[in-house]
Amino acid sequence: MDSLILRGGRPLEGEIPISGSKNATLPLLAATLLAPGFYRFTNVPQLKDVRTMSNLLRILGAKIDESGHELLIDTSHASHIEAPYDLVKTMRASFYVLGALLGRHGEARVSLPGGCAWGPRPVDLHLKGMEALGATLTLDQGYVVASALPLKGATFEFGISSVGASANVLMAAVRAEGTTVLKNVALEPEVTSLALFLNKMGARISGIGGRDLTIQGVAELQPADAVMSPDRIETGSFMCAVGMTKGKVKLTHADPQQLTAVIEKARQAGLTVSVGADWISVEHSHGKLRPIDVTTDVYPNFPTDLQAPFMALATIADGVSHITDTIYADRFTHVAELFRLGAQIHMDNNIAVVTGVPKLTGAPVMSTDLRASVCLVLAGLAAEGETEVKRVYHLDRGYEKLEEKLSRVGADIRRAEGDL
Ligand code: EPZ
Repeated sequence: MDSLILRGGRPLEGEIPISGSKNATLPLLAATLLAPGFYRFTNVPQLKDVRTMSNLLRILGAKIDESGHELLIDTSHASHIEAPYDLVKTMRASFYVLGALLGRHGEARVSLPGGCAWGPRPVDLHLKGMEALGATLTLDQGYVVASALPLKGATFEFGISSVGASANVLMAAVRAEGTTVLKNVALEPEVTSLALFLNKMGARISGIGGRDLTIQGVAELQPADAVMSPDRIETGSFMCAVGMTKGKVKLTHADPQQLTAVIEKARQAGLTVSVGADWISVEHSHGKLRPIDVTTDVYPNFPTDLQAPFMALATIADGVSHITDTIYADRFTHVAELFRLGAQIHMDNNIAVVTGVPKLTGAPVMSTDLRASVCLVLAGLAAEGETEVKRVYHLDRGYEKLEEKLSRVGADIRRAEGDL
């Protein structure tokens, strides 16, 4: 398993291009199952999770050619309906194909997901939404077996705001007979971009961008092309990298509009942030970082996926920070590893009380999930001496060429091929 080896303390100067959004790409790939034909996706990030979803589509009968940041997808013969356990268990978002399979074939057999290592992550809202649309669901040896001949429009309210459940149920609703009203739909940009893409395919969704969507079911949809939007979580992670090191970096091909809460928090931490239409410039040239109080919440509030990266900033701030995750109460596996670098953190349920220290000291640390991994890389950028971040296959799920992007702006970071 590969590791990243870092030596901290180097200021970052220059430009970093932001890649396409992993979490926007995955639901759009699932949506290609809804209409047979050819799709051209561009600005697609070269990530392990995108390859996993592409492999799942191939298992379902699609043909996919990847060249650079472009995917050519042909779902003309995507006639299979089973998403197998040994693939779905590696990536929770695989479960998103359930709604598209029901929308296209009226039946599906999808393994219950596994996904990240922290805590239980139920799919009850996905299943309740499908049942509301007339699907009959049974559980068979860890698989959800669904049939809906036909899907029927209905009114359904999500008990809590769920990105995946909103995406999954929406992909079934666009083919349900009659009118569907979905209430309390997640506002995350990835749900909005999916809804816009479905309309480009011929769906009839109104209220996009709001909590309530009205969908007039259609008998068929057509393929469409798509350009992936910038990855807002990668952008926020690189903002933290500047805070950990000093320096000045311009993040290009970015979308500041999706990061209002994050930019506000970065400024509170003492970073100088200026924005343009498609760029964000972050500067931290002098003085200590200021402590921050972060509480994660659903969009447009501060995202849980940047909880761990911003905790890295807090470890070296001049004071005490409070980091609360209201989305995932147990998403703190990075804390134990930060201790190894000299961080001072006290856990109180889902609140991390972080007392800034004058400096971190390099050490070997272990990645446990995608965002915890990048938190450790960020800490390594500041730590004195050498830090080895092990098991970076977690990182490769969601950050494209991270070590290349960081070394190009001056970081001392390299990948070490590990044993298998
Ligand atoms: C999406 O996961 C993202 N993944 C996650 O990013 C992100 O952390 C999460 O949304 C929250 O923003 C993708 O977009 C591929 P949810 P998802 O359903 O859809 C509970 C990353 O790092 N819930 O919005 O799985 C759930 O337990 C990944 O890129 C139910 O109770 O998240 C959680 O507490 C990690 N029942 C809350 O809702 C359900 O049926 C929000 O989860 C579904 C969810």
